[in-house]
Amino acid sequence: MNTKNILITGGAGFIGSNFINYILSSRDDWNVINIDKLTYAGNLENLKGSEKKKNYSFVKGDITNNELIDYVFKKFSIRYVINFAAESHVDRSILGSEVFYRTNVIGTNVLLEASRRYGIEKFVQISTDEVYGSLGADGLFTEQTPLSPNSPYSSSKAAADMAALSFYHTYGVPVVVTRCSNNYGPLQFPEKLIPLMIINSLNNKKLPVYGDGLNVRDWIYVTDHNKAVELVFENGKTGEVYNIGASREMKNIDIVKLILSKLDKSFNLIEYVKDRPGHDRRYAIDSSKIQNELGWKPEYEFESAIEKTIDWYLNNKNWWERIINGSYKDYYDQQYGKG
Ligand code: NAD
Ligand code: DAU
Repeated sequence: MNTKNILITGGAGFIGSNFINYILSSRDDWNVINIDKLTYAGNLENLKGSEKKKNYSFVKGDITNNELIDYVFKKFSIRYVINFAAESHVDRSILGSEVFYRTNVIGTNVLLEASRRYGIEKFVQISTDEVYGSLGADGLFTEQTPLSPNSPYSSSKAAADMAALSFYHTYGVPVVVTRCSNNYGPLQFPEKLIPLMIINSLNNKKLPVYGDGLNVRDWIYVTDHNKAVELVFENGKTGEVYNIGASREMKNIDIVKLILSKLDKSFNLIEYVKDRPGHDRRYAIDSSKIQNELGWKPEYEFESAIEKTIDWYLNNKNWWERIINGSYKDYYDQQYGKG
């Protein structure tokens, strides 16, 4: 068996840990090296079960650290990179943008430079539909939609995409970029809409809905995203971009009401609050390219997958209580009240 040495960055976060847990449970031809800085969003508890596998190694470190990245490439004979690591939360990028440009842009550049030096075989850059900006009532983002990011987060991701593609065109680094819509599922940090609304409902706290609540996001279950990433890793054409989405548009207020209904809580918990500055109105993905070229299609229906997600938070209270009483405590108490 030919084992592949694959550097996965940000593997202690929401999507990265789901990816590693999925990969290590389904195949043994990948030797996974996970590098993660363990910021507030990184949690090694997410990797229970994977951490003991012999084809898994963990390095605590920062992707912006050139020397460390060079050492890791050498020590583990890295041949492939999947770059999940990022500062990922739009609201935080509005409060302070510097770390977003440092990690998302400089960090990606450090990984690309090492990939160039070591002549690796594939570099998958995990990006987002937010790089396309905002849609009106109609239309979908295709891979040809011009980039028009509106937040410090999305502009840093757009810059990283451009850096990655420039390394393909200039140096022949075998880069592929994926752009996915909003993910939901187990292990998502409770600052994002769906887990935050579940947890606040359970704690009988207010559910803050930005603006008029009519902004639209296109939701995909995290495993569907990760299976698409696996396929792009295996068969995606270098120099190309692949959109990933499950065609499940929902207004924010409808998601919030659905969560309250499932948990048998009153709509009185909903509180309309000041809108997010620069709030993108609507995202919607055309994923026909990855469906037609690579044969991917989403497997999870929103109705059952959101129930599965809510159940996960109900059954894993210890996981999120440790977060809201730990690294997230000051921010959480300040935003949503103590006790
Ligand atoms: P997350 O915030 O849950 O996890 C990010 C991980 O990266 C954390 O474990 C963190 O510790 C690590 N990290 C941050 N800075 C680092 C650094 N400098 N060096 C090493 N590790 C560092 O994010 P997520 O939601 O899992 O998103 C993962 C990727 O997917 C990101 O690139 C994001 O832009 C992209 N994405 C996310 C979504 C979504 O809905 N969450 C949708 C599309 C694309
Ligand atoms: O589209 C992909 C992107 O999805 C990813 O690239 C980002 O990493 C990820 O964070 C997510 O970005 P969003 O800004 O869309 O996700 P968030 O969960 O922060 O918000 C979803 C929607 O809900 C958005 O319209 C803002 C709104 N919202 C969010 C929060 C946290 C509220 O109304 N109230 C809230 O408290």
